[in-house]
Amino acid sequence: MCGIVGYIGPEGAAPILMDELSRLEYRGYDSAGIVTLDGDGLHLVKTRGKLQVLRDRLARDGEPKGNLGIGHTRWATHGAPSDVNAHPHLDDQGRVAVVHNGIIENYQSLRRELEKEGCVFRSQTDSEVVSQLLARRLEKCGDLLEALTSTMGRLRGAYALGVVAKACPGTLAAARKGSPLVVGLSDHGNYIASDIPALLPYTRKVYLLDEGEIALVYADHVEVYSEWGEPVEKKVYEVTWSVDAAERGGYKHFMLKEIFEQPRAIRDTLNPRLRDGRIHLEEAGLTDEYLAQVKRVVLIACGTASHASLVGRAAIEQLARVPVEWDVASEFRYRDPILSPDDLLVVVSQSGETADTLAALRLAKENGCKVLAITNVVGSTIAREADRVLYTWAGPEIAVASTKAYLTQLLCLYLVAIEMASAKGRLDAATYDRYIRELQTLSDKAQTVLTSTTAEQELAKRFCHSRDIFFIGRGLDYAAAMEASLKLKEISYIHSEAMASGELKHGTIALIEDGVPVVALSTQGAVAEKLHSNIRAVKARGAVVVCIAYGDSSVEDGVADYVLYIPRTDDLFAPLLSIIPAQLFAYYCAIERGYDPDKPRNLAKSVTVE
Ligand code: F6R
Repeated sequence: MCGIVGYIGPEGAAPILMDELSRLEYRGYDSAGIVTLDGDGLHLVKTRGKLQVLRDRLARDGEPKGNLGIGHTRWATHGAPSDVNAHPHLDDQGRVAVVHNGIIENYQSLRRELEKEGCVFRSQTDSEVVSQLLARRLEKCGDLLEALTSTMGRLRGAYALGVVAKACPGTLAAARKGSPLVVGLSDHGNYIASDIPALLPYTRKVYLLDEGEIALVYADHVEVYSEWGEPVEKKVYEVTWSVDAAERGGYKHFMLKEIFEQPRAIRDTLNPRLRDGRIHLEEAGLTDEYLAQVKRVVLIACGTASHASLVGRAAIEQLARVPVEWDVASEFRYRDPILSPDDLLVVVSQSGETADTLAALRLAKENGCKVLAITNVVGSTIAREADRVLYTWAGPEIAVASTKAYLTQLLCLYLVAIEMASAKGRLDAATYDRYIRELQTLSDKAQTVLTSTTAEQELAKRFCHSRDIFFIGRGLDYAAAMEASLKLKEISYIHSEAMASGELKHGTIALIEDGVPVVALSTQGAVAEKLHSNIRAVKARGAVVVCIAYGDSSVEDGVADYVLYIPRTDDLFAPLLSIIPAQLFAYYCAIERGYDPDKPRNLAKSVTVE
């Protein structure tokens, strides 16, 4: 998704902007640009393609001068990826430059209005209306804050903006409504960025802008205002991530690094919550008293987080015997859901910024529900707007394909399920203790799965040219199969489907023919026999079957062509281990096919538009 950066201070802006942009490359983009300002005016360089194209352009033509500037990586929404549609956008007289994340919903009517006044547009983007409108307002009133508040009054939709104006050579302006934006504070200049990783080498002190807020950023101080232009006192937020945590640390790709960080992420998420043999979730207001009276849970999320929520649904229903509704946020928000103030609505989101999940949260709050957010990003919009927050301490997840966030989301959901069951008197002490002890083994077991990746590499070599790969399972294996299938398709571009294996015979088995790979997740003892029959049925039609199964199981006898082993655990926790070989298989398939798994086509890390 688009990235915004900005700098004002004693240094030349261009190298800093380029460095900040490189730290946002993981988000996915198709064009990039920067603009700087000095006594000669605005200097704009932008181009379609990767940052290297922009770097080559700067090396050829010279770096633009100026101690103030903004930059952008664009992920096309309105208008194709092209030089002219890349940001920053200038107004038609070159007075103002704007970078924009999000979508301006009423851009067509604003554009028509401005064109009637003689304004000439160069791009097909929605963003250009902002620079055109702002430049005209600034010309009239001569005050950047007033020009920004009145421009924002005309915009509908979601946006984060970075602005520089020829008439204000000492000010970098930023505004936020619906899309994240932070201001970085330091003794050697100040910064803006849509994402904290861009700022980590420069500062750990940030202001997290709230909805509608405007920042006027100067070289030596920062002023923040409400959307009505009133001054706002901000608290400085200290970022605790290290630069190292946001960098590759010797791994070829962020995705691989993050897969290998999973044992650590499991410990970081569990350890602060397990004390004296009990689960403690009081940090999120989830006291036993509160959990005991929950009558219904509604779990809402998108993508990988929705797959984690499917496991959460099973765990909560199975252990606490509380009905759980599950939906993807983009459906939930438009289907006029039945909600009651007694419901516990749980939104799960790695980034804490996903537009659909945020809209679902707001809808639930309008209906009087209490919202619990399970999220990875401290200070994200979802974290701030939810009533309660349970953080997945996965550390920064940079790769577009979510791995360690999924595992830690599962853990948080398991903790809620076990504690709710205990608070409701549905778990005897021995079973509760057994779960706690098993949870404490999961980090080591994940480490065991990661001891060797040879089998996954070999399988990737064998299957990376397949047209389709199916993932099947029953119960929790089906939930994990959905995540396994998503991992594969999003980074290797091999078509993949996940099926509840009992459903195969109702249609999909028609696609099974000689040589089609079928990955069967086989950890759920209660339905093992049923799954084995389904495996035999696909094998009889020529499928090559790979099982993901416990090391001590016998599922493979006669049915599997290959087996990827995981250590035995309670079946409830199996998705947390069975997904790891599937993540590795997806990663190596992408590598075998020559794709960069960190930058899958058409995808963005944090989906802040609908
Ligand atoms: C897939 C992936 C996405 C996200 C989805 C929700 O690997 O990462 O499917 O899970 O876009 O994002 P968050 O969790 O940030 O709300």
